[in-house]
Amino acid sequence: MALFPVKGRANKNVKGTAVTAQGIWKEFRVYHEKNQSIKEIFIKRKRAEYETFWALKDVSFAVKQGITFGLIGENGSGKSTMLKILAKILRANQGTVEIKGKVSALLELGTGFHPELTGRENVFLNGSILGLSRKEISKRFNDIVAFSELEQFIDSPVKTYSSGMYVRLGFAVATNVDPDVLLIDEILAVGDEAFQRKSLDKLYELKKQKKTIIVVSHALSSIAEICDEAIWLDKGEIKAAGKARKVVATYLREVNRKEEERSDNEDEERLATPGSRRGSGELQIKSVKLLDGRGKERSIFKTGDKLIFRMEYEAKQPIEKPIFGFTLYTRSGVLCIGTNSRIFGLVPDKLSGNGVMEYEFDKLPLLGGEYELTVVVHDITGMHIFDSHDKKYHFRVSAIDNSDIGLFKTSGSWRMS
Ligand SMILES: Nc1ncnc2c1ncn2[C@@H]1O[C@H](COP(=O)(O)OP(=O)(O)O)[C@@H](O)[C@H]1O
Ligand SMILES: [Mg+2]
Repeated sequence: MALFPVKGRANKNVKGTAVTAQGIWKEFRVYHEKNQSIKEIFIKRKRAEYETFWALKDVSFAVKQGITFGLIGENGSGKSTMLKILAKILRANQGTVEIKGKVSALLELGTGFHPELTGRENVFLNGSILGLSRKEISKRFNDIVAFSELEQFIDSPVKTYSSGMYVRLGFAVATNVDPDVLLIDEILAVGDEAFQRKSLDKLYELKKQKKTIIVVSHALSSIAEICDEAIWLDKGEIKAAGKARKVVATYLREVNRKEEERSDNEDEERLATPGSRRGSGELQIKSVKLLDGRGKERSIFKTGDKLIFRMEYEAKQPIEKPIFGFTLYTRSGVLCIGTNSRIFGLVPDKLSGNGVMEYEFDKLPLLGGEYELTVVVHDITGMHIFDSHDKKYHFRVSAIDNSDIGLFKTSGSWRMS
């Protein structure tokens, strides 16, 4: 990501719409490597073969002046392409873009800064492209450097910068040149958390100053928080548009639905391959179901949901004091919870025939992630295993916005005095 200032006429008194994109279509060519050599093209007179595809298909939207506008969507959905078209770095095959006022853009890494020039020279270069005089840039220079926290490196060529440093300088310039319209791609995805927070604070400040801001971000909670309106791009098409919170919520629902589908397919694959099972078999766990609060089978839960492990068993002969247990692991094999019915104090004297044993999480404490479940039934000593299904079941806890990080939801609270 780097700075790319775009020349435009400054107009401080814009009313109404600041940015309009009308019927934007953008086609890319993807060349097949094998036919890329000059030799082949000229000697064999064979044309390079390529396929074309539409990265943007009839995208239209309008951004009112002073609004913060978000672009969301999966990787490859066309967000960066749309932003580059707004910044006039790419030209659309069809459609028009209209922007009122001076545009400043922070785009993907690789567009912008001159690598051989120092940070200082790039600040001046970019400022002048934006139409600022040397004096105006000098006036802002210290603020820019202070914001980027690159005092020590400002006289080194930017090619020696890390991507985090690039972004810091790029963001500092883009937001300190008094643009009317600010375009920002994925600023919240790069750099350390402290700088992200600082960038977000800066955006809030510009928002308060009624600048028009268009942001692309994967940090959905930030989009929902800072943006007034948003569009959701899906394979180059607008899938939803409107109030940012609504669009983010719709998008999240779809993402979770897709994950559930994928996870169902994985389940089927797993069932087809026999899971590792062991035990003497006098008492068998015939089925294991993961149920929600309404008794519906699910493979995706949310932190705080009710979750029930329902085990149907069959005892071929009377079994004395059987103990049911389970262990939960993360995908990477970290043991999260292991417990059993004896620890809970439930030890039936004798079991025979068919029956059901359930464990219920009133409020699932696990945070977002993938988990694997082992169920087991053994004797009171734990030495004799009747039946055990090792990591045979799995479920996902979907990540939610604004959540704790780690494995478990804390039940602690904050206090101030
Ligand atoms: N210069 C290019 N040439 C060919 N294909 C491209 C080019 N730029 C982007 N694409 C393709 O266009 C699609 C949209 O890309 P992009 O706008 O970067 O998506 P996003 O920012 O939403 O992840 C992707 O399939 C990407 O591979
Ligand atoms: Mg992108």
